[in-house]
Amino acid sequence: MQISKTQILKTKSELQSWSDAERRAGRRVALVPTMGALHRGHIALVALARRYAESVVVSIFVNPTQFNDRRDFEGYPRTLDSDLAACRGAGVDVVFQPSAAEMYPEGASTWVDVDGLTEPLCGANRPGHFRGVSTVVSKLLIAARPDVAVFGEKDYQQLAVIRRMTTDLGFGIRIVGGETVREPDGLALSSRNVRLGTTARRQALCIVESLDLAERMLAGGEHDTAILVEAVRKTLARATQARIDYAELRDPDTLAAVTGRIEGPVLLAIALQFEPDPDGQGSAVRLIDNRVLGRRQAAGPTASCPPERKSERREEFPR
Ligand code: PAJ
Repeated sequence: MQISKTQILKTKSELQSWSDAERRAGRRVALVPTMGALHRGHIALVALARRYAESVVVSIFVNPTQFNDRRDFEGYPRTLDSDLAACRGAGVDVVFQPSAAEMYPEGASTWVDVDGLTEPLCGANRPGHFRGVSTVVSKLLIAARPDVAVFGEKDYQQLAVIRRMTTDLGFGIRIVGGETVREPDGLALSSRNVRLGTTARRQALCIVESLDLAERMLAGGEHDTAILVEAVRKTLARATQARIDYAELRDPDTLAAVTGRIEGPVLLAIALQFEPDPDGQGSAVRLIDNRVLGRRQAAGPTASCPPERKSERREEFPR
């Protein structure tokens, strides 16, 4: 394990000064935005960021404006000490850990709203969620001024929204998607997994089972969306402690609904809302997962494969 000196910065102006100094010293900066409760999925994003930049900043901020349920916000795991240890172990240069007042100064009333892509899936069930995400990510990008920002494909719609936003607003920052990291049994790692009761945790496996099933069916020649979705919903229904928020086939780029016959790669996106176990163990937890079916290698919106060698990297990032 690499042990490095990790600086903790709390204000946007400190972060801006650090980032400017890095660039003046000829080092590129990559930003990995998180809400903390770091797990291997986050750390994989740090490793990916490191392939694009000499300096990596991880932001840790549980962003109140993207939660539409106060209980979810209050119950969100906060594990700062172990997060800092994980960042040190991963060789993170800076942890940006602002207060809510730093990110939303008194009277804050400016929002970033992306139309279209934010309407289906999580947008339909979590009003205001993506507005909160786009706004806080814009603020983080402005404060960190990175060359690259890295996001997980697990939150597929979020990644698509952020790509759209940075293109539309001309941020000039490269957005990189990182593959979903999973538990050995296939459950996608999530900071919320620790809040699942034992039964809910076992039942949550039906999510990855339904993704696998759909992939096998499509590979076996089943191109009918209605048949695929029905099979997926039947598998998900085995999680008796969960309600299906959505299980939908969508265009991987536009997120438009795909109906009828599947002609090309298609996104299968799933969200389940779990209840606490009957014995009171665990809490209400919403889990999401996805897979692009019918691609030789599953990938998120415009997956990027970073160049390895420094000389090539220079060519790709002209200053
Ligand atoms: P958070 O849920 O902490 O996730 C931070 C980043 O880690 C996101 O880009 C997310 O997609 C990625 N991630 C989560 N689980 C992953 C996994 N199993 N494998 C790979 N990557 C994974 O997403 C957010 O925070 C917030 O919305 C944020 C973008 C920080 C804005 O507040």
